[in-house]
Amino acid sequence: MAHSKDTTIAFAFDIDGVLMKGVKPIPGARETIQKLQDLKIPFIFLTNGGGLTEEAHVAKLGQRLDLTFDKRLFVQSHTPYHDRVAEYADKTVLVLGGHGQQIRDLAHAYGFNKVVTPSDFFQEFEHIHPFPEMTRAYHLEHGRRHKAPLRDTKIAAIFVWSSPRDWMLDMQLVIDLLLSRGGYMGTRSSKNGDASLPNYGFQQDDQPKLFFCNPDFEWATQHEQPRFAQGAFREALCGLWAHATRNKAKMQYSVVGKPTEATYIYAEGTLRDYHSATHGTGSDNDNPERRIGRVYMIGDNPESDIVGANSYESRCGFEWRSVLVETGVHVAGTVPIHTPNHTVRDVREAVEWALAGGE
Ligand code: G3P
Ligand code: MG
Repeated sequence: MAHSKDTTIAFAFDIDGVLMKGVKPIPGARETIQKLQDLKIPFIFLTNGGGLTEEAHVAKLGQRLDLTFDKRLFVQSHTPYHDRVAEYADKTVLVLGGHGQQIRDLAHAYGFNKVVTPSDFFQEFEHIHPFPEMTRAYHLEHGRRHKAPLRDTKIAAIFVWSSPRDWMLDMQLVIDLLLSRGGYMGTRSSKNGDASLPNYGFQQDDQPKLFFCNPDFEWATQHEQPRFAQGAFREALCGLWAHATRNKAKMQYSVVGKPTEATYIYAEGTLRDYHSATHGTGSDNDNPERRIGRVYMIGDNPESDIVGANSYESRCGFEWRSVLVETGVHVAGTVPIHTPNHTVRDVREAVEWALAGGE
């Protein structure tokens, strides 16, 4: 459906590099969002950040921007992991990323009941980390001993939730488990490298499935240049895997987060449902007076926000437009690898342009 005067526009806001730089709001962000709230124009947040429940994360953002938001507005990197709970609720999963008990608690809050962390492995396997001197105290503080030893516990899946901190331990663990017999730490599959099997047998002995939720290689923080994000960890891991398998097998994994289609499907459904619930148009979004026609994705990362919006084929009949800002990963004066529908200085200009009917 094309955009028309009978429909409303809507927005999907990236957070880091658009509304925030680290813990600091980007100038104009607060006023811009408040204006949309006053005008009752629908929007969602669509971020590859994570580490907290949707409710806690939107509350944190609200606090930083000094505004109040509904938790239903928030789609973050690992929001699609909700769809994995049914399969893994009662199987043991290894979670990576974050600090302290943050990700264990988060995974529990999602409904995963049997959650282990790299620090738990550190507690049980004395020599798992060859160079533990910088992180030993941390793992001893945050790891847990489990009643059933991890040595006898099958790890059914590995979920990366946010940026891993102790890359060495985490990478060692993932590679160990992907090469293991059936997901048991301390074992090695005899099928690895078996040339009679397709893909040389790697990851074909019931090893854990591997899930990532943020493809971003880098992200905008308060530092001068962008910093490594979860995608950088994945690239490094793929490099180790290539070496461990002598380039004979590609690492098998699933990934959600912008720019994947799965995340845009999730985002669009969230926007439609929230709009329907708050404007009383019913779940079919079928009131032409209130129907969402066009969605402006406002982002700073061409390889995430822009290509995602450009390539997404709407399931709800929305018309997605991409708007690139110059306050984050993309640098003013350079040519972005994916061309947006429009480029502006910052989020304030982006919204002004869209409100004025920007095509
Ligand atoms: O780790 C967070 C980062 O990769 C991106 O966040 O809000 O720019 O999608 P955002
Ligand atoms: Mg961003």
